[in-house]
Amino acid sequence: MKTRCMAVRGFGAAAMLGMALWSLTSAWAASDDTVQRGKYLATAADCIACHTAAGGKPFAGGVAISTPLGAIISTNITPSENAGIGAYTLAQFTDALRKGKRADGAYLYPAMPYTAYASITDEDVAALYAYFMQGVVAVDSKPAATRLPFPFNVRSSLAAWNAMHLDGRPFVADPGKSAEINRGAYLGQALAHCSACHTPRGATMGELSERSLGGNSLGSWYAPNISSDVNSGVGSWSTEQLTAYLKTGRAGLKAQTAGPMAEAVDHSLRNLTEPDLRALALWLKQTPPIHDAADTRPPDQWGTAADYTGSIRGVALPADRRQMTGPQVYDAYCATCHQASGKGTPDGGLPPLFHNTALGHANGDNLVMAILQGVQRQADVPGATMTMPAFARTLSDQQIVTLSNFLTQQFGHPEAKVTVQRVGQLRAGGTPSPLLKWVWPGTAGVIVLFSLLLFRYRRRHR
Ligand code: HEC
Ligand code: HEC
Ligand code: HEC
Repeated sequence: MKTRCMAVRGFGAAAMLGMALWSLTSAWAASDDTVQRGKYLATAADCIACHTAAGGKPFAGGVAISTPLGAIISTNITPSENAGIGAYTLAQFTDALRKGKRADGAYLYPAMPYTAYASITDEDVAALYAYFMQGVVAVDSKPAATRLPFPFNVRSSLAAWNAMHLDGRPFVADPGKSAEINRGAYLGQALAHCSACHTPRGATMGELSERSLGGNSLGSWYAPNISSDVNSGVGSWSTEQLTAYLKTGRAGLKAQTAGPMAEAVDHSLRNLTEPDLRALALWLKQTPPIHDAADTRPPDQWGTAADYTGSIRGVALPADRRQMTGPQVYDAYCATCHQASGKGTPDGGLPPLFHNTALGHANGDNLVMAILQGVQRQADVPGATMTMPAFARTLSDQQIVTLSNFLTQQFGHPEAKVTVQRVGQLRAGGTPSPLLKWVWPGTAGVIVLFSLLLFRYRRRHR
């Protein structure tokens, strides 16, 4: 095992020279405390989510992140010398996290969230390094290599994208804000990379800082506006509700997590300390508000209990099930759990569908995704004992459209309209990756590179 010197303090020059010579030839371990801190940071940064295949060994890579260009496969980041990052120096590891650069100098695809990790402090990068070198079990097998077709396999083109979108500066605390808010900002921006999902991206797929945390489609699931705006974001949430949501994936009756956010909670956020979760909540509540005009009340204030029973009692179901009305589909497939009126069970174990943020955003994609995929949580999450089945095989696109539009009109945001075309797209997402969009920077980089080359070529031939 290779380990590197983390701190040299309190030694005389001679001792230091001796140590330096010794460290060239043998291992020098970082303290257990540093390794433990690195482990916590790796959890907050959710390295495991992308670097561990289902059923595979921790951090051995092999997760295929599907993109329209082909799969980008995460690599082995265990301390194996041959298959993993065991031969990385601290400087090379730092470059991977902060500059998106591999030890061999090649650029990483931005499916690896180095634009966020770029602001991790030196001290924390060193602790992460100590954990990956000393606290992770080496696995000596390499996952399949990423093979994108030309020109997307030209990794050097990413230099152009990085020049536009990578701000390599480490996090600097804002002296005008409390230590708690600064801690939350650091956790949210550098480690937990909330903006990678929640901030919309521009034409070249860089995050739009002027719409920071303003809501973003991940191709399938929609990461809603979580800026401090009262009607569009989380401005109406209490600190306690936000903390509970990040810890358990539930905030009382008003919000339950599903999809990629459920994974972020289950793998990463629920393991953070209470003070860190509170810091994240306090930070969210003071981010610049991003407001959308259609949002005339908070996301958890839309809709009322339904009384549709009159419209279905004694009415035969149509022979063609695609002709079923919204109340008929709801009654047949949802009412057993969410109750006829939509008010769920009093303890929220089966949540109400009105005054629920899942239906309170102008984008209806998450309602459709919850119907298609259901809600599954990691089995050992306290309180998440109830799951919701997936209806992808049970309900047709037309039934989902009829049902969703009935639900958003009755229980949710009136602007959230669902179409057959959209349900078809969301269904075709298969097992959609939250990272789908992170790949387009690669494409954009290639385009920029080629236009630069063309420009130079033209100049030369003038
Ligand atoms: C959102 C997904 C994602 C997360 C989260 C993530 N990575 Fe990665 N990482 C990737 C992908 C994909 C690659 C391979 C990219 C490529 O081949 O260009 C990669 C590559 C790397 C590499 C380069 C290894 C090599 O030589 O190929 C290192 C080092 C690395 N990640 C470390 C980390 C660490 C440490 C964390 C947590 C702090 C982390 N990653 C979190 C997706 C992720
Ligand atoms: C991998 C993508 C991803 C990451 C990373 C992520 N989120 Fe989310 N988040 C989502 C999605 C998708 C939803 C919608 C989930 C749902 O409706 O069930 C969501 C929902 C939320 C909600 C509930 C909003 C509402 O109106 O119900 C909050 C609050 C939230 N996220 C906060 C955060 C914070 C804070 C971070 C960083 C610490 C973060 N998220 C990181 C994808 C992500
Ligand atoms: C077997 C019981 C059950 C059935 C049937 C069921 N649900 Fe659910 N549903 C749940 C549970 C439990 C949750 C919350 C899970 C949690 O809190 O982790 C939930 C959550 C939801 C959410 C919130 C998801 C989010 O992303 O925040 C929506 C929306 C929803 N259900 C809609 C429906 C619709 C529409 C139907 C009918 C097609 C339906 N449910 C059928 C049990 C059920």
